[in-house]
Amino acid sequence: MKLLFLACLSPKTGNYTTAERIRSHIESAGHTCELRDVADFLSPSDVAHLVSQNPPFQGALAIHLFKAGRLLLDIQLPFGVIFGGTDINEDVKDEQKRVVMEQVLLKARFAVAFTEKLKEEAEFVLVSPQSKIYVQPQGIQTEVAEKFCWTEFLMSSEWHSENHLNILIIIGPKYIIFKHLFICSDSGARQKVDPALTAKVEAVVKRATGVFLAQERSQRKLHAVMKRCFAVVNSSESEGMSAAILEVNICKAMDLRVPVLARNIPGNAAVVKHGVNGLLFSSPQEFVHQSQRLLSDHKLRERVVRNGKLYVEENHSVKQEKETYQRLVDTLHKAQFSA
Ligand SMILES: *[C@@H]1O[C@H](CO)[C@@H](O)[C@H](O)[C@H]1NC(C)=O
Ligand SMILES: *[C@@H]1O[C@H](CO)[C@@H](O)[C@H](O)[C@H]1NC(C)=O
Repeated sequence: MKLLFLACLSPKTGNYTTAERIRSHIESAGHTCELRDVADFLSPSDVAHLVSQNPPFQGALAIHLFKAGRLLLDIQLPFGVIFGGTDINEDVKDEQKRVVMEQVLLKARFAVAFTEKLKEEAEFVLVSPQSKIYVQPQGIQTEVAEKFCWTEFLMSSEWHSENHLNILIIIGPKYIIFKHLFICSDSGARQKVDPALTAKVEAVVKRATGVFLAQERSQRKLHAVMKRCFAVVNSSESEGMSAAILEVNICKAMDLRVPVLARNIPGNAAVVKHGVNGLLFSSPQEFVHQSQRLLSDHKLRERVVRNGKLYVEENHSVKQEKETYQRLVDTLHKAQFSA
């Protein structure tokens, strides 16, 4: 079957990797799946024009009900949709957008939510036949860049000659490393939109010893850094919006067998069970305390690493994700003939 797959594809976003992974699941079942950026289309009629070209498309898939799904409203082909980050957190608040999303959901053959919570929220705000929304968490697949050298990395990270035991590195707008402690925070999202905060962070970094700013990296390089860290830390004070759904960095760290230290907020606590598959902290003092525990208690470290890996294998299985999408695309394939 020839399938059109629409998503927001700005490079390096979690969105892009998610879309690529789903595309490969579909193609490995023998279909052709053409991934296109929503930015390539101005209106639903553009998409309708594209799908009628020869050989014509036979079905479609979109990540994001509003941003991508709405472009499918003019086509006569069976399609499915996947909830995107801002759909339920943001777009539904705008009544016009919400109505469009409802139309998309009604027309879609199926919808996929990455979490049970998201499905419940969607069913609460959008009219939809109950059975239409499936829950399929994102498969976690961490590809690690092969070549990696700490010295090179640290040189490029405004590294100086002192050889302190604890180093804090902030990579790009998003990731912070604590020497062998790697901290992910969403301060980045805020930095981008908030120049005052960026300036503040930069000023603090300048004053502190052992704190360095580094460039943002590609996912594979980031994973390479992560893998070599003592621990990955998520210090977000609030739930990121799209990031919470599309970038599951805590789970990536777990997959790479790196212990996770996360701030005790609902989004993190939903994944990290304190002392079981990671550690939670609520204050800077507790952060220090928990990091020290992790440094001195090897049994604890081994336990959280082992359980973290199990968590990802059980709850973010790529194999299961693949089976789900292949099964769902089959329903589109069949729908084509019954339409
Ligand atoms: C950190 O956790 C918050 C809350 O769960 C999440 O929104 C954010 O995306 C996470 N940041 C990273 C870089 O994983
Ligand atoms: C998978 O997630 C569920 C729900 O959060 C949790 O109860 C379960 O323990 C997880 N599996 C593993 C192996 O951690």
